[in-house]
Amino acid sequence: MSNAHYEQHGKVAVIRLDNPPVNGLGHELRRGIVDGIKRAEADDAIKAIVLIGSDQVFSGGADIREFGTPKMVVEPNLHTVIHFIETCDKPVIAAIGGTALGGGLELAMACHFRVALPTAKIGLPEVKLGLLPGAGGTQRLPRLVGLEPALNLIVSGESVPAGMFMGTQLFDEFIQGDLLVGALAFANKVVDEQRPLKLARDLKVEHPKAEAFFLWARTGIAQRAKNYPAPLKCVDAVEAAVNKPFDEGLQIERRLFAELLMSEESAALRHAFFAERATSKIPDIAEDTPTREIKSVGIIGAGTMGSGIAINFLNAGIPVTILEVKQEALDRGVAHIRSVYEGRIKKGKMTEADAEQRMSLLNTTLSYDDLKDVDLVIEAVFEDMGVKEQVFRKLDEVCKPGAILASNTSTLDLNKIASFTKRPEDVIGLHFFSPANVMRLLEVIRGEKTAKEVLATAMQLAKKIRKTAVVSGVCDGFIGNRMIARYQTEALLMLEEGASPQQIDRAIENFGFVMGPLRMADLAGGDIGWAIRKRHYAENPDMKRMVIADRLCEMGRFGQKTGAGFYRYEPGRRDALPDPEVDRVIEECRKELGITPRKISDKEIVERCVYALVNEGARILEEGIALRASDIDIVYLTGYGFPVFRGGPMFYADRVGLMKVARTMEKFAKRPGVTNSDFWQPAPLLAKLAAEGKTFN
Ligand code: 3HC
Ligand code: NAI
Repeated sequence: MSNAHYEQHGKVAVIRLDNPPVNGLGHELRRGIVDGIKRAEADDAIKAIVLIGSDQVFSGGADIREFGTPKMVVEPNLHTVIHFIETCDKPVIAAIGGTALGGGLELAMACHFRVALPTAKIGLPEVKLGLLPGAGGTQRLPRLVGLEPALNLIVSGESVPAGMFMGTQLFDEFIQGDLLVGALAFANKVVDEQRPLKLARDLKVEHPKAEAFFLWARTGIAQRAKNYPAPLKCVDAVEAAVNKPFDEGLQIERRLFAELLMSEESAALRHAFFAERATSKIPDIAEDTPTREIKSVGIIGAGTMGSGIAINFLNAGIPVTILEVKQEALDRGVAHIRSVYEGRIKKGKMTEADAEQRMSLLNTTLSYDDLKDVDLVIEAVFEDMGVKEQVFRKLDEVCKPGAILASNTSTLDLNKIASFTKRPEDVIGLHFFSPANVMRLLEVIRGEKTAKEVLATAMQLAKKIRKTAVVSGVCDGFIGNRMIARYQTEALLMLEEGASPQQIDRAIENFGFVMGPLRMADLAGGDIGWAIRKRHYAENPDMKRMVIADRLCEMGRFGQKTGAGFYRYEPGRRDALPDPEVDRVIEECRKELGITPRKISDKEIVERCVYALVNEGARILEEGIALRASDIDIVYLTGYGFPVFRGGPMFYADRVGLMKVARTMEKFAKRPGVTNSDFWQPAPLLAKLAAEGKTFN
């Protein structure tokens, strides 16, 4: 069955795009459009053609799943569809309600006329996939709306309300009321008035100082787009719209699109697009699993995390009650929340009235009785099993049946926490990342007994508070922190072996991480890692000590908050300054360990840190802690500053080649003086996939 439906309304043919969920312009739909146009052309009773989608979406653009497959180019490809429209001798009118993105908007721009609901959303988001509009968008949009607005839309990839382009040639009419009724009326008017057919290709882009504008645009974009080739190529393509005849411009756009389609960056960004959407699919949880309604939330602990977590719910319009042990702690938490809103008001991102409205949803209490009616409680007290036990026993006593009891613990055993209650099926982990009101990632920890309904509710709630939720099983550190511990360990070992903090951070930042491992440790607070190491030393007395990091902590150097860590910090500043005292400590520790420092290459730094993530990621995957490799990638892209243009650690390993990655690990395992050769044995899953020539993703 075709997914473009043909209907006749008097003298107008309507071709309705119907390829859910987003009317992606896959092969079937493209063929349906062309067939519809041919049929309308052949029918003398038809005088005009309307292309329309659903109320939600005109078209989300080319079907990205076809990219890199023969289906993408098989006839009729998108260029052919557009050619059919442009050469049709009857007026073709695009009627846009909902979203028209990428190839969807390009299809509309090739039509003779366009009408839209003012609320429709339009955009050319290809740049976000490491691409540029490849079906004439870079040539037609500047002709229809002018050079500067077109370049802004193309380079930003943002979607905007169609109404923003009122008064330009992009839209001939805005429809109030029913889109189809309005589009048919417009089509009849075009026919009755015998309006000449208009094509964007026949327009010229006028700009008084185009050359200077492109120079300025390139300078700014080059700075911002460092590791991403697409934005500058967008400028090249748009420049052709100004300087070249239309068809030559199209050729240039096509060539640039093909180059980008082959780029590593685009492959990584497309992987991230689908990976992010896959996180919400849990194999044993059907989409129609019932969920519980969350109309109010209780939070235990108004510290760093508790107050940050509260902001998410206030922003979503959900009332929050925070409970603390002391009034001062409550006051500090409330002051923090208020200061976040004040900061946003100062930056012009929020009005005072909005802030007041959100603050009015916040209640504070010292008494558990005030939590007896809430639908969800999130515990964010000290990371101590004894304290968690007290809290969960109390919650079990006071909370209403059906309330979800969540812990924000970052390392403790969630199953044990659940066992403190008589309703472990209602207990779940909601692991927010700091600052909790800013970071997109939310690890949702599924305990042994967590009910499906509770998990489904948490995933749904995550969307409501605009988090990217990734499901993790229970283990020490869950997905993200368990892997980062391996990465940090490699950084610390390389300090012992001969690298400096600056060299390690520089190598990792050049790879594309937002921040190197030692600067990150200084930001997070050295005491947190130290507390975890001490717990590990106690659990496993023979394990290797991280002497340099421990020594710095013994000296009270906990990073930025104490003005000194692996670097020193001037009061009130965040710049990490090299510190001769750290060099002295490193040298002293090397002597005690009997290590003669060696020169370590940047390549080794990157491989050891990144492959440490990959090997632990592979173990996490084979243990079933993560549902899929792409979930691990999303954890790293949204929570740990892994370079997005590399697609996440597992995708990166796939691109390097798992055999090569495994061989390098084996080499690390055999290095003279290696202290963690067991760790460097490739994880069985990695070894198996490598041997079979397969990939994680
Ligand atoms: N191709 C294939 N699948 C697509 C798609 C596309 N262009 N856009 C969305 N999908 C899929 C998603 O993967 C998801 O699949 P799933 O249900 O299996 O997980 C499903 O459609 C629904 O997507 P969302 O969850 O994102 O739905 P929303 O309603 O939240 O958002 C949207 C809808 C705004 C259209 C959003 O999906 C989106 O931004 N899509 C990408 C748009 C885009 O980048 N278009 C450009 C494509 S490239 C192009 O057109 C090249 C051309 O210039 C030649
Ligand atoms: P914090 O020390 O800033 O805040 C903890 C708060 O809990 C304090 O205000 C304290 O008064 C309160 N509290 C302690 N015992 C209590 C009790 N019995 N009843 C009510 N309130 C009590 O700690 P932070 O950083 O907010 O951490 C909280 C939890 O979040 C911990 O489990 C931690 O592991 C986890 N976490 C921390 C992250 C971080 O980066 N700080 C990141 C992710 C999770």
